[in-house]
Amino acid sequence: MIRTVLKEIIASNSMLPFAIRDEVVKQTMHIQELFPTPIIITHIDKALNQKTLAFIKSKEIKYVRNLGGNSISSDLYTLESDELNDIKKVLTDSVNEYFKKIIIPDEEVELYITNSWINVNKNGEAHHLHKHTNSMVSGVLYIDTCEGDTISFSNENSEVFGNLKFNDIPKTKWTVHEWDIPAINNRLIIFPSSLLHFVKPRPNTCTGSRISLSFNTWIKGDTWVAESRSR
Ligand SMILES: [Fe+2]
Repeated sequence: MIRTVLKEIIASNSMLPFAIRDEVVKQTMHIQELFPTPIIITHIDKALNQKTLAFIKSKEIKYVRNLGGNSISSDLYTLESDELNDIKKVLTDSVNEYFKKIIIPDEEVELYITNSWINVNKNGEAHHLHKHTNSMVSGVLYIDTCEGDTISFSNENSEVFGNLKFNDIPKTKWTVHEWDIPAINNRLIIFPSSLLHFVKPRPNTCTGSRISLSFNTWIKGDTWVAESRSR
């Protein structure tokens, strides 16, 4: 239907829609990208990841069933265990590096980890679409995964220009409303907590369980902004 309408527009106005005839316009046109979403992908030391996996496997951790079929630890303060001090420090440093790279604050502020929990997906199990409320920045560390495991980020505004859908246009950063990032052992992904994400059903070709550790953060320090001062 939309293609038919476009063809009619093209037929009725030869200047539309795609060929720029004016040389000045053609040479000066550029796309200003606004409001991008910062997601950091990095890796932690392999030995530290192995240590974390050994801790998880050695403990009698209780899990509860989550929406989407996977399980999460009932303990929402996993990183408070003494055995995980090292990894907590690395994750705290990493999340603050991200925060300061993006925000570049004048004030003395920093993020600290609040909740932290373990996610387990067996083959075929998914993790429902969600965001992390009451958190600034979140992170997920992939501890034990297999080829084909991913995390998917989703744009709340799922339609092109907020209001258009096509069946067969190329996937670009302008047109996608969902993006998969491979979940690889030792990989740490840090993202705004308000960003929607989910996990597709785990491939049935995997062995064992997919294990990851997620965490949320909150801010501390001087958060008194100029606008507040003028109230
Ligand atoms: Fe999540």
